[in-house]
Amino acid sequence: MTYDVAVLPGDGIGSEVVAEAQRLLARLEQLSGSEVTFRLETYDVGAGAWRRTGEAISDAVFASCAAADAVLLGAAGLPDVRHADGREAGSDVIFRLRLELDLYAGVRPVRLYPGAPSPLRDPQGGVDYVIVRENVEGFYAGRHGGSRVEGEVAADTSIVTRRGTRRIAERAFALASARNGAPADGVRRVTCVDKANVLASYAFFREVVADVAATHPDVAFDAVYVDAAALYLVQRPSTFDVIVTENMFGDILSDLGAATIGGLGLSPSGDIGDDHGLFQPAHGSAPDIAGRGIANPIATILSVAMMLDWLGRRRDDAAAVRSAHWIERAVVAVLGDGTTLPRDLGGIAGTSTVGDEILAALDKVVAAA
Ligand code: NAI
Ligand code: MG
Repeated sequence: MTYDVAVLPGDGIGSEVVAEAQRLLARLEQLSGSEVTFRLETYDVGAGAWRRTGEAISDAVFASCAAADAVLLGAAGLPDVRHADGREAGSDVIFRLRLELDLYAGVRPVRLYPGAPSPLRDPQGGVDYVIVRENVEGFYAGRHGGSRVEGEVAADTSIVTRRGTRRIAERAFALASARNGAPADGVRRVTCVDKANVLASYAFFREVVADVAATHPDVAFDAVYVDAAALYLVQRPSTFDVIVTENMFGDILSDLGAATIGGLGLSPSGDIGDDHGLFQPAHGSAPDIAGRGIANPIATILSVAMMLDWLGRRRDDAAAVRSAHWIERAVVAVLGDGTTLPRDLGGIAGTSTVGDEILAALDKVVAAA
């Protein structure tokens, strides 16, 4: 099958890591005997685009993203490129795509691969869970709605709706039933992370998730306050399977999760709605290392695997789903071998050298399949 992918390299290391993803897609076309092919169109977005054109993402680019089968983003934003009110101009890209394509589920797998440097001393039972973050409501829904009063008081409002909570909960339960990998005790589980003890909106969130849980007797359900969750994700991560949580908590906990599995350079993500999907590494544009060819491309490559798995399942295309598995196995091989690691993982290999190594590993995975 052929897939139209809108490619948005964006700012900083975005173009460096996306270049490796493009090489990977080209190799997959060959290795699949053209069973899976891609039409890639690259568009200019982000802080750089804003500086050049006054728009971080133009209507025309947005329309192309909406028309594509999937969107692949590097990173958008540079810390010193800002609107007059202080918000970053590049952030408009992801907010616009999330809101207007209704990409309500932020899916962030947190998986510790053998060979990846975890700061956890002894993560017994491993680390393998998924954070499902509500992407369009909560505190961030009021992105333009916060207010300041006479320079003395500021307030933001968190929006939590029954519809928005139900659909993110449904997504979490569906994922718990379908995903590969399981928590240490083998029990499929959705954990609601909130602050239901303090805030009305979180008590409501938990109530609605619990209602959805009652319709999924095959999956266990529990709920944990966010402060305790931060503790448990470090102390006993193996007890988690799928976490469902409000926007801001998902944002914070997914970076905490990334830290436990070797950092942002290994953390993929998908922003997925009912009709559209956007895939991107969890990291940003890393201006501190941009232009030096040393960024780790693995988070982007794993995001490509997520994209292919999602596309394949939507289209009933076993070849695309198989390609996703191939990619993950190639990454596992390179990390396990440990001789060609990027700097953030303690090695010395540059971006394209890591990309080469993953392509070579992919060839072997496919030859052995
Ligand atoms: P960042 O993720 O860009 O960088 C944080 C730290 O991690 C830096 O030390 C960086 O060098 C390192 N790092 C990140 N990705 C890496 C990789 N692939 N390989 C090796 N090291 C890596 O976060 P930061 O510095 O807070 O944000 C920089 C810019 O990126 C900001 O303008 C921010 O708004 C934007 N950003 C964009 C995101 C997106 O497009 N979805 C997400 C996060 C930040
Ligand atoms: Mg974040």
